[in-house]
Amino acid sequence: MNKTEQLKKQAADYAVELIESNMIIGLGHGSTAIFALRRIAERIHTHELQNIYGIPVSQHVEQEAKKLGIPLTNFEQHPIIDITIDGADEVDPNLNLIKGGGGALLREKIVAQASKRNVIIVDESKLSPSLGTRFFLPIEVIPFGWHSQLRTLTSLGATWELRLQKDGRPFLTDQGNYILDGTFASPPSDVYAIAHVLQNLATVVQHGLFLDLATDVVIASESGIQHKQRS
Ligand code: A5P
Repeated sequence: MNKTEQLKKQAADYAVELIESNMIIGLGHGSTAIFALRRIAERIHTHELQNIYGIPVSQHVEQEAKKLGIPLTNFEQHPIIDITIDGADEVDPNLNLIKGGGGALLREKIVAQASKRNVIIVDESKLSPSLGTRFFLPIEVIPFGWHSQLRTLTSLGATWELRLQKDGRPFLTDQGNYILDGTFASPPSDVYAIAHVLQNLATVVQHGLFLDLATDVVIASESGIQHKQRS
Protein backbone atom coordinates (compact mmCIF):
# COMPACT_ATOMS: atom_id res chain seq x y z
CA MET A 1 0.00 0.00 0.00
CA ASN A 2 1.44 3.39 -0.93
CA LYS A 3 1.38 6.42 1.37
CA THR A 4 -1.85 7.89 -0.03
CA GLU A 5 -3.62 4.55 0.26
CA GLN A 6 -2.45 4.26 3.86
CA LEU A 7 -3.92 7.70 4.60
CA LYS A 8 -7.20 6.77 2.92
CA LYS A 9 -7.37 3.62 5.02
CA GLN A 10 -6.62 5.54 8.23
CA ALA A 11 -9.47 7.99 7.54
CA ALA A 12 -11.80 5.10 6.69
CA ASP A 13 -10.91 3.06 9.78
CA TYR A 14 -11.46 6.10 12.01
CA ALA A 15 -14.87 6.81 10.47
CA VAL A 16 -16.08 3.22 10.73
CA GLU A 17 -15.61 3.43 14.51
CA LEU A 18 -18.49 5.96 14.48
CA ILE A 19 -20.87 3.18 13.42
CA GLU A 20 -22.84 1.38 16.12
CA SER A 21 -25.01 -1.74 16.07
CA ASN A 22 -28.61 -1.37 14.82
CA MET A 23 -27.74 1.35 12.33
CA ILE A 24 -28.61 1.82 8.66
CA ILE A 25 -25.43 2.77 6.83
CA GLY A 26 -24.90 4.61 3.54
CA LEU A 27 -22.07 2.89 1.68
CA GLY A 28 -19.96 5.31 -0.38
CA HIS A 29 -18.16 4.90 -3.70
CA GLY A 30 -14.49 5.34 -4.59
CA SER A 31 -10.98 4.35 -3.65
CA THR A 32 -11.29 5.80 -0.12
CA ALA A 33 -14.79 4.53 0.64
CA ILE A 34 -13.78 0.97 -0.33
CA PHE A 35 -11.52 0.89 2.75
CA ALA A 36 -14.54 1.78 4.89
CA LEU A 37 -16.57 -0.97 3.23
CA ARG A 38 -13.88 -3.54 4.07
CA ARG A 39 -13.61 -2.35 7.67
CA ILE A 40 -17.40 -2.43 8.11
CA ALA A 41 -17.36 -6.03 6.85
CA GLU A 42 -14.61 -6.92 9.35
CA ARG A 43 -16.58 -5.42 12.23
CA ILE A 44 -19.70 -7.33 11.15
CA HIS A 45 -17.84 -10.63 10.85
CA THR A 46 -16.32 -10.27 14.34
CA HIS A 47 -19.86 -9.51 15.66
CA GLU A 48 -18.67 -6.15 16.93
CA LEU A 49 -21.46 -4.69 14.80
CA GLN A 50 -24.84 -6.38 14.81
CA ASN A 51 -28.09 -5.74 12.99
CA ILE A 52 -26.39 -3.45 10.46
CA TYR A 53 -27.83 -2.87 6.99
CA GLY A 54 -26.22 -0.91 4.18
CA ILE A 55 -27.57 1.13 1.28
CA PRO A 56 -24.93 1.33 -1.49
CA VAL A 57 -24.54 4.50 -3.61
CA SER A 58 -23.75 2.59 -6.80
CA GLN A 59 -24.17 -0.75 -8.51
CA HIS A 60 -20.41 -1.27 -8.16
CA VAL A 61 -20.53 -0.77 -4.39
CA GLU A 62 -23.57 -3.03 -4.18
CA GLN A 63 -21.56 -5.83 -5.81
CA GLU A 64 -18.57 -5.21 -3.51
CA ALA A 65 -20.78 -5.14 -0.40
CA LYS A 66 -22.40 -8.43 -1.41
CA LYS A 67 -18.96 -10.02 -1.93
CA LEU A 68 -17.92 -8.83 1.53
CA GLY A 69 -21.09 -10.20 3.14
CA ILE A 70 -22.54 -6.85 4.26
CA PRO A 71 -26.35 -7.15 4.63
CA LEU A 72 -28.14 -4.66 2.37
CA THR A 73 -31.48 -2.91 2.46
CA ASN A 74 -33.26 -0.24 0.41
CA PHE A 75 -35.12 3.04 0.86
CA GLU A 76 -38.50 1.35 0.71
CA GLN A 77 -37.61 -0.59 3.86
CA HIS A 78 -35.50 2.15 5.45
CA PRO A 79 -36.06 5.69 4.16
CA ILE A 80 -33.72 7.21 6.74
CA ILE A 81 -30.00 6.43 6.96
CA ASP A 82 -28.23 6.83 10.29
CA ILE A 83 -24.74 7.42 8.97
CA THR A 84 -23.11 7.52 5.55
CA ILE A 85 -19.38 7.20 4.97
CA ASP A 86 -18.20 8.43 1.59
CA GLY A 87 -15.20 10.05 -0.08
CA ALA A 88 -14.91 13.40 -1.87
CA ASP A 89 -12.84 14.93 -4.63
CA GLU A 90 -12.42 18.33 -3.03
CA VAL A 91 -13.23 19.76 0.42
CA ASP A 92 -13.30 23.47 1.28
CA PRO A 93 -12.94 25.10 4.72
CA ASN A 94 -16.76 25.23 5.11
CA LEU A 95 -16.96 21.46 4.65
CA ASN A 96 -18.56 21.90 1.24
CA LEU A 97 -17.54 19.33 -1.34
CA ILE A 98 -17.11 18.42 -4.95
CA LYS A 99 -18.05 14.80 -5.59
CA GLY A 100 -18.66 12.68 -8.65
CA GLY A 101 -15.16 11.77 -9.79
CA GLY A 102 -16.39 8.18 -9.85
CA GLY A 103 -19.59 9.13 -11.65
CA ALA A 104 -21.92 8.13 -8.81
CA LEU A 105 -22.91 11.65 -7.76
CA LEU A 106 -26.69 11.35 -8.21
CA ARG A 107 -27.13 8.33 -5.97
CA GLU A 108 -24.48 9.72 -3.61
CA LYS A 109 -26.52 12.88 -3.18
CA ILE A 110 -29.78 10.98 -2.67
CA VAL A 111 -28.07 8.90 0.02
CA ALA A 112 -26.47 12.00 1.57
CA GLN A 113 -29.80 13.83 1.71
CA ALA A 114 -31.39 10.80 3.40
CA SER A 115 -28.65 10.60 6.05
CA LYS A 116 -28.72 11.99 9.55
CA ARG A 117 -24.93 12.04 9.55
CA ASN A 118 -22.63 12.33 6.52
CA VAL A 119 -19.05 11.46 7.28
CA ILE A 120 -16.63 12.33 4.49
CA ILE A 121 -13.27 10.60 4.51
CA VAL A 122 -10.29 12.09 2.68
CA ASP A 123 -6.53 12.26 2.64
CA GLU A 124 -5.13 15.76 2.98
CA SER A 125 -4.62 16.15 -0.80
CA LYS A 126 -8.39 16.74 -1.13
CA LEU A 127 -8.35 19.95 0.91
CA SER A 128 -8.67 23.19 -1.00
CA PRO A 129 -9.21 26.86 -0.16
CA SER A 130 -12.03 27.11 -2.68
CA LEU A 131 -14.06 24.51 -4.62
CA GLY A 132 -13.02 24.24 -8.26
CA THR A 133 -9.35 24.86 -7.46
CA ARG A 134 -8.02 21.34 -7.63
CA PHE A 135 -10.81 19.35 -9.24
CA PHE A 136 -13.28 19.67 -12.11
CA LEU A 137 -17.00 19.81 -11.38
CA PRO A 138 -18.91 16.76 -12.63
CA ILE A 139 -22.58 17.07 -13.57
CA GLU A 140 -24.92 14.27 -14.63
CA VAL A 141 -26.92 15.14 -17.75
CA ILE A 142 -29.49 13.22 -19.72
CA PRO A 143 -28.22 12.16 -23.17
CA PHE A 144 -30.99 14.14 -24.90
CA GLY A 145 -30.41 17.83 -25.51
CA TRP A 146 -27.44 18.68 -23.34
CA HIS A 147 -25.68 20.45 -26.24
CA SER A 148 -28.51 22.97 -26.25
CA GLN A 149 -27.59 24.06 -22.72
CA LEU A 150 -23.83 24.21 -23.22
CA ARG A 151 -23.91 27.97 -23.74
CA THR A 152 -25.45 28.52 -20.30
CA LEU A 153 -23.06 26.02 -18.76
CA THR A 154 -20.10 27.81 -20.31
CA SER A 155 -21.38 31.19 -19.07
CA LEU A 156 -20.67 29.88 -15.56
CA GLY A 157 -16.96 30.30 -16.29
CA ALA A 158 -16.16 26.67 -17.06
CA THR A 159 -15.36 24.58 -20.09
CA TRP A 160 -17.24 21.28 -20.23
CA GLU A 161 -16.11 17.92 -21.54
CA LEU A 162 -18.19 14.82 -22.03
CA ARG A 163 -16.66 12.06 -19.89
CA LEU A 164 -15.58 9.13 -22.05
CA GLN A 165 -14.71 5.51 -21.35
CA LYS A 166 -11.38 4.04 -22.44
CA ASP A 167 -12.97 2.84 -25.70
CA GLY A 168 -14.04 6.40 -26.56
CA ARG A 169 -17.74 5.87 -25.95
CA PRO A 170 -19.54 8.12 -23.43
CA PHE A 171 -19.27 7.03 -19.80
CA LEU A 172 -22.72 5.97 -18.61
CA THR A 173 -23.93 6.42 -15.06
CA ASP A 174 -25.95 3.79 -13.20
CA GLN A 175 -29.02 5.65 -14.50
CA GLY A 176 -27.82 5.51 -18.13
CA ASN A 177 -26.97 9.23 -18.21
CA TYR A 178 -23.83 11.11 -19.27
CA ILE A 179 -21.32 13.02 -17.16
CA LEU A 180 -19.94 16.41 -18.16
CA ASP A 181 -16.80 17.56 -16.34
CA GLY A 182 -16.48 21.32 -15.95
CA THR A 183 -13.11 23.00 -15.52
CA PHE A 184 -13.30 26.53 -14.14
CA ALA A 185 -10.91 29.20 -15.45
CA SER A 186 -10.75 30.38 -11.84
CA PRO A 187 -12.57 28.98 -8.79
CA PRO A 188 -16.14 30.33 -8.62
CA SER A 189 -16.64 32.94 -5.90
CA ASP A 190 -20.23 31.81 -5.21
CA VAL A 191 -20.75 28.06 -5.44
CA TYR A 192 -24.36 28.43 -4.22
CA ALA A 193 -25.14 30.58 -7.28
CA ILE A 194 -23.52 27.99 -9.56
CA ALA A 195 -25.57 25.23 -7.90
CA HIS A 196 -28.74 27.28 -8.37
CA VAL A 197 -28.16 27.74 -12.12
CA LEU A 198 -27.30 24.07 -12.59
CA GLN A 199 -30.41 22.94 -10.70
CA ASN A 200 -32.58 24.95 -13.09
CA LEU A 201 -31.19 23.45 -16.30
CA ALA A 202 -33.50 20.72 -17.56
CA THR A 203 -30.76 18.44 -18.91
CA VAL A 204 -28.85 18.51 -15.61
CA VAL A 205 -30.10 15.68 -13.46
CA GLN A 206 -27.70 16.52 -10.62
CA HIS A 207 -24.41 18.30 -10.00
CA GLY A 208 -21.39 17.40 -7.92
CA LEU A 209 -21.55 20.37 -5.55
CA PHE A 210 -22.42 18.93 -2.14
CA LEU A 211 -23.20 22.09 -0.17
CA ASP A 212 -24.10 21.99 3.55
CA LEU A 213 -24.40 18.21 3.42
CA ALA A 214 -21.28 16.90 5.16
CA THR A 215 -21.73 16.80 8.93
CA ASP A 216 -18.22 15.46 9.51
CA VAL A 217 -14.99 15.44 7.53
CA VAL A 218 -12.23 13.06 8.58
CA ILE A 219 -8.86 14.11 7.14
CA ALA A 220 -5.85 11.81 7.28
CA SER A 221 -2.41 13.35 6.95
CA GLU A 222 1.17 12.51 7.89
CA SER A 223 0.58 14.24 11.22
CA GLY A 224 -2.50 12.17 12.11
CA ILE A 225 -6.28 12.31 11.89
CA GLN A 226 -8.25 15.53 12.02
CA HIS A 227 -12.02 15.24 12.60
CA LYS A 228 -13.95 18.37 11.62
CA GLN A 229 -17.63 18.68 12.45
CA ARG A 230 -20.23 21.11 11.14
CA SER A 231 -21.35 23.29 14.01
C1 A5P B 1 -17.71 9.04 -6.61
O1 A5P B 1 -18.63 9.47 -7.55
C2 A5P B 1 -17.07 10.17 -5.91
O2 A5P B 1 -17.89 11.15 -5.41
C3 A5P B 1 -16.06 9.72 -4.88
O3 A5P B 1 -16.56 9.75 -3.58
C4 A5P B 1 -14.93 10.66 -5.01
O4 A5P B 1 -14.61 10.69 -6.40
C5 A5P B 1 -13.73 10.29 -4.18
O5 A5P B 1 -13.13 9.18 -4.73
P1 A5P B 1 -11.72 8.67 -4.25
O6 A5P B 1 -11.89 8.29 -2.83
O7 A5P B 1 -11.44 7.52 -5.16
O8 A5P B 1 -10.76 9.79 -4.47
